[in-house]
Amino acid sequence: MVIITGTSRGIGKAIAENYLNLGEKVIGIGRNHTISHPGYSSIHCDLSNPGLVELISFPDMDNEKVIFIHNAGILGKVDYFEKLDPQEIAKVMQVNLFAGAAILQKLLQQLPKTTSFKCVFISSGAGKTPIASWASYCASKAAVDLFCQTIQLEEQQLGRTNFHCLSVAPGVVDTDMQAAIRDTKQTSFSEVDRFKEYKHSNQLYSPELVAGKLFKLVHEMPLEQVVYSLRDIDL
Ligand SMILES: NC(=O)c1ccc[n+]([C@@H]2O[C@H](COP(=O)([O-])OP(=O)(O)OC[C@H]3O[C@@H](n4cnc5c(N)ncnc54)[C@H](OP(=O)(O)O)[C@@H]3O)[C@@H](O)[C@H]2O)c1
Repeated sequence: MVIITGTSRGIGKAIAENYLNLGEKVIGIGRNHTISHPGYSSIHCDLSNPGLVELISFPDMDNEKVIFIHNAGILGKVDYFEKLDPQEIAKVMQVNLFAGAAILQKLLQQLPKTTSFKCVFISSGAGKTPIASWASYCASKAAVDLFCQTIQLEEQQLGRTNFHCLSVAPGVVDTDMQAAIRDTKQTSFSEVDRFKEYKHSNQLYSPELVAGKLFKLVHEMPLEQVVYSLRDIDL
């Protein structure tokens, strides 16, 4: 069973379709659902609302291998933080970190310790390097890296032997998120030209390439660490 947040488009949709094409069952969690496939089922949830995330529940999966991928993410408004509504950081943290953490906690509480369980948070290079006008996003993705490392440590201590928690940066990917970045005014985002150049010089990964690389990492490579970049994975 593969549980993925944010399957309506972009990277999450490509990951979901990759698993469905391989015959896996997928549960997508999100506000919108665009996949029509017999193996796909949906849980409707706006992940920016903690009360709605709390209501999520899963079927019995005791005898299945379970993969949870927290892919849903938002950049938030791109501008200097001093100009933003202070609530902006709360929303970005909620979608990018807290919603995934709350779903992971439900799964850890539900699944027996012997279940084969892999958890992937989609992180970002922006969690490693500051990017002006992305303060909330950078903070949320940096938090994802250390959250995943801590959960891995905790579950080892708790005797969950068949578990891996991964924080995986996908690279720069040709999705709506990148289109929104390129649409920002230079006065709000000093590095906008760098992102336009990525697109114009065809440097963006396709979501399908990212889905393939993620599958290779999660299923075909020895998992010896928690924090990975798909830039380091060749297909
Ligand atoms: N694209 C890149 O270059 C890049 C680089 C590094 C990391 N990432 C990360 O990769 C992940 C996927 O990004 P993407 O590029 O595929 O972005 P995207 O095309 O904007 O898709 C984002 C997905 O998240 C969902 N989502 C957003 N807000 C939500 C909410 N409140 N409740 C439920 N679902 C919500 C969206 O669904 P709706 O239909 O509901 O909006 C959509 O399915 C994100 O975590 C992002 O930070 C992307």
